[in-house]
Amino acid sequence: MDASMFRKLHDPGATVPALTLTIDGQTVSAEPGDSIAAVLLRLDPPFSRTTPVSGSPRTPYCMMGVCFECLASVDGVASTQTCLVQVRGGMRVERQHGRRALTMAAPEDAVDPRDGMQGGVSP
Ligand code: FES
Repeated sequence: MDASMFRKLHDPGATVPALTLTIDGQTVSAEPGDSIAAVLLRLDPPFSRTTPVSGSPRTPYCMMGVCFECLASVDGVASTQTCLVQVRGGMRVERQHGRRALTMAAPEDAVDPRDGMQGGVSP
């Protein structure tokens, strides 16, 4: 039984082919069009990051790019607003614990995980 209080309203995978991504190394199914934050909410426990000060878990809240509670590392890019990014097959997501780790990747090497997002809000 899934302990998360969030679930799809329809039977997942019944009509739409599923894709897989990993969250903290665990393979998870999703549907095209799902945001990463929606997938995180369906997991048990449903959190995306922990705070730098107390370490308490934070859960995606606004789902529209305002609250920043949904930050996670997506394909190596820390502090990604997961509510603004649609899932893609093979994506690697890590819940973010505390402050983001700064990396010195060259800008041309960086991948913007928002590429392909439709209707998203640019920062
Ligand atoms: S859930 Fe609020 S910014 Fe993503």
